[in-house]
Amino acid sequence: MRNCIFVTGGAGFIGGNFVLDWLADANADEVVNVDKLTYAGNLKTLASLDGDSRHVFSETDICDRAALNRLLTTYNPRAVVHFAAESHVDRSISGPAEFIQTNIVGTFTLLEAVRAYWGGLDDAARAAFRFLHVSTDEVFGSLGPNDRQFSESTAYAPNSPYSASKAASDHLVRAYHHTYGLPVLTTNCSNNYGPYHFPEKLIPLMISNALGGKPLPVYGDGLNVRDWLYVGDHCAAIREVLAHGRLGETYNVGGWNEKTNLDVVHTLCDLLDELRPKAAGSYRNQITFVKDRPGHDRRYAIDARKLERELGWRPAETFETGLRKTVQWYLDNQGWVQDVMSGEYRNWVAKQYAA
Ligand code: NAD
Ligand code: TYD
Repeated sequence: MRNCIFVTGGAGFIGGNFVLDWLADANADEVVNVDKLTYAGNLKTLASLDGDSRHVFSETDICDRAALNRLLTTYNPRAVVHFAAESHVDRSISGPAEFIQTNIVGTFTLLEAVRAYWGGLDDAARAAFRFLHVSTDEVFGSLGPNDRQFSESTAYAPNSPYSASKAASDHLVRAYHHTYGLPVLTTNCSNNYGPYHFPEKLIPLMISNALGGKPLPVYGDGLNVRDWLYVGDHCAAIREVLAHGRLGETYNVGGWNEKTNLDVVHTLCDLLDELRPKAAGSYRNQITFVKDRPGHDRRYAIDARKLERELGWRPAETFETGLRKTVQWYLDNQGWVQDVMSGEYRNWVAKQYAA
């Protein structure tokens, strides 16, 4: 393989979109996609790359140091873009162990493997190498209604096992830069939405349930606020940071789109009423308020001005254009959705929404 980058977690939602967007450029470096294929990993997302020699897939756990060593010395990447993680807050509440293992131990193992590999490169390759760590705004905790948005200097205050494990991984990445000089970059992004999103998360879950005639389960009073970003805009931000970010820096990525969960669900119902009307009535009639998530963060909001100032990035999609594209994608790709609704998915839904 000629020049290549490693992508971990590239069979998941954001990693999969990143790989597809990256390879849409005919001149892009080749991709070695390192993914364990947990319940959230799905090779069908990458089906359009079948037979494309620029994409090499390796079913590998980032906790497997020996396998990582072999892959790194075989393919000689010039960069690693690290998406692999356990990513669902509700699952981290019912079973935190996997989050500690993948998000903390896995990131540590990957950092160690990359440090050894990077240390063996020649001077020019060492200087050009990048390790980009993809993280979340949830590490900053919860905002009150009048608090300023999270900036890069906001103190970490994670509240869920998920966000605590991501915070730990961010700290490890930072420490590997300060201690060993590893050329790292970190992005902290707000909630993503778009194609290939696993239907356990709010937006794809609501679309699937709406179309299936099932209740639309809104936690608590539905007034928790998230800052939504179209996944393609997140991928563009990562490409910018990888190409031009300052070493050791962190960059917040957000959509300037604060919405309550109820607003999001109403907008989805209205789009579905327009694009796939029911025989009678609105999808809004399926909304049901259910028991709140324990420790549910009230509000997330990102100040993404550093990324705009330094690298000229701004989201291309508004919430309205991005959500319309997303709903249309789910309507056009029901086969992909049916495939991921495996036995494991059904077990999760039965357990999580039992009450
Ligand atoms: P996802 O759950 O859809 O995908 C995660 C991928 O990682 C899957 O393909 C899974 O198979 C793989 N994986 C899990 N454990 C692994 C292991 N031990 N070894 C190798 N691969 C493993 O997640 P996502 O929503 O695409 O999130 C990707 C990254 O972006 C995560 O690091 C997440 O914290 C971060 N992030 C997500 C959001 C969001 O809104 N989804 C927002 C900001 C940041
Ligand atoms: P989610 O998509 O799980 O992302 P995160 O918790 O990482 O922000 O949830 C987004 C918001 O939607 C969050 O406030 C929880 C809420 N939510 C519901 O109200 N009902 C649901 O069934 C789910 C999955 C989430």
